[in-house]
Amino acid sequence: MEEKHKKIIDKLIKYKQEDILKTIDKFSNEEKENILNQIENINFEQLEKLYKKIDVKKEDKCIKIEPIEYIEKENISIEEKEKYNQIGTKTIKEEKYAVVTMAGGQGTRLGHNGPKGTFDFGLDSHKSIFEILCENLKEAYEKYKIYVPWYIMTSKENNKETKEFFEKNNFFDYPREKIIFFTQEQLPMLNEKGKLIIDENKDIKQAADGHGGIFVSMRKDNIVEDMKKRNIEWVYIGGVDNILAKMVDSVFVGLAIEQKVLAAGKSAVKACPEEKVGVFCKKNGKPSVVEYSEITKEMSEERDVNGQLKFGESHLLCNLFNIDAIDEISKDKLPYHAAYKKCNYINNNGELIIVDKPNAYKFEAFLFDAFESLDKITVLRVRRKEEFAPIKNAEGKDSPETARELYNKFHKIGG
Ligand code: UTP
Repeated sequence: MEEKHKKIIDKLIKYKQEDILKTIDKFSNEEKENILNQIENINFEQLEKLYKKIDVKKEDKCIKIEPIEYIEKENISIEEKEKYNQIGTKTIKEEKYAVVTMAGGQGTRLGHNGPKGTFDFGLDSHKSIFEILCENLKEAYEKYKIYVPWYIMTSKENNKETKEFFEKNNFFDYPREKIIFFTQEQLPMLNEKGKLIIDENKDIKQAADGHGGIFVSMRKDNIVEDMKKRNIEWVYIGGVDNILAKMVDSVFVGLAIEQKVLAAGKSAVKACPEEKVGVFCKKNGKPSVVEYSEITKEMSEERDVNGQLKFGESHLLCNLFNIDAIDEISKDKLPYHAAYKKCNYINNNGELIIVDKPNAYKFEAFLFDAFESLDKITVLRVRRKEEFAPIKNAEGKDSPETARELYNKFHKIGG
C-alpha cells in the first residue's frame, strides 16, 4: 500500500473512524481513492471536539438574557427619517455600500432540486428568487444611479449550479463585474455514533458550515480585501429566501451611521409568543439573538408596560455590518452548533439507505453570534408585510404560497 494511504488509514484508526473502510471495501479503486483523498483533508480533531459537545447541555443558567432596545421604523418622525435618508443616500451614492446574499444553505425543508435562489415560486412571471432579488438592486440603480456590488455566497455543494444559473440568465442584465461569487466552507456530517457518512454520490457527506461561516469565508476568498479596495464601508448581509428584503435601504444605513454602531439588524414583531423564531436580545449584556428553544414559555409571553412582548423582535436575517466589524469578526471562526438532520447514506453492504427522519449531525455557525463581539447594535423594527416574505417550507407557513401572496400584495399584483 502506498505510504499516503497508510497514513490516511492510521489517521482513521486514531480517530476511531476505521468503520468507513468496510463501507468502501466494495467500491472501485477510483472511488476508494476519491474517498481517501477527501479524508486526507478532514480535521478530525475539530470533528471529535464538535461531536463531544453535542451531548453537553448548554449551561444556560450562567447566561443572563434580557430584552434589547429597538427603534420602530413607523415611529421615526418624518424629519428624522429624512435625515437618515440623506446620510444613507450619501454612502450609497459614494459607492461605499455593498450587498451580500447568503445562498449557501441546503434548503432541505423546501426540497427544491437545486440552489434555493433558482426556485420559481409560482409568480405569473415565473421569475426565480435570484431574479427577484436582482430587481431590488435594479430599483436601487433607478434611485441612486449606482450599481451596488452584489456578492453571493454559495456552498461547495451548489456553487457550480448557482453560477451556471446566472450565466444562463445573462446575470439578469445586471453588470457582470458587479456580481461577485464566493464559496463558504463545509464540514463533514456525522451519524449518531459520531462516524463519517458516505452519501449517494460515494463521497464523504459534507455540508455548508452555516450562515455564520460567512465571515471567515469572506476573508479566505479575499472578499474583505476586495471590499476595502472598492472603499466599501457598509455591507448588507441577508438570506436568499426573503423575497421582500429591502437590500438597499438608505434610512437603515443612515440610522446605523447616526447611531455610531458597527452593526444593525431588522426585526419584525413576533406573530404570537409561541412563534418559532430567533429573537433579538442581550446575552450577558451583549447584543445577540436567542433561539425560541432557549427561552422559557414565561419569558416568551412577558410583556412590557406598553403591552409589547419583551422578547418579540424576530431576527429577519437582514443585517448591516460596518467593514471594520467584518474585518475583525472574520479573523476567527464563530462557534459551531449541532443540528440534527436527515441524511441518506450508503451502509456497510453498499446499499443506499433513504431515511425519513433525522439521523445525522450537521455543524453550523450562526451569523448572529457575531453580534456578541460588539457592545451595541441598532435593532430596527419594520413591518412584516413590507419587508419579510420568507420561503422556508414546501407547504404551510413560510412557503412559496404565503411568500407569493405577500409579494403580490406588496406589489399590488392581481385582486
Ligand atoms: P436557513 O437556516 O433557513 O437554512 O438559512 P436553509 O439551508 O435555507 O434551509 P433548511 O434549514 O435546510 O431547510 C437561512 C439563510 O442562510 C443561508 C441560506 O441559504 C438562507 O439564505 N445559509 C444557511 C447559508 O448561506 N449557508 C449555510 O450554511 C446555511
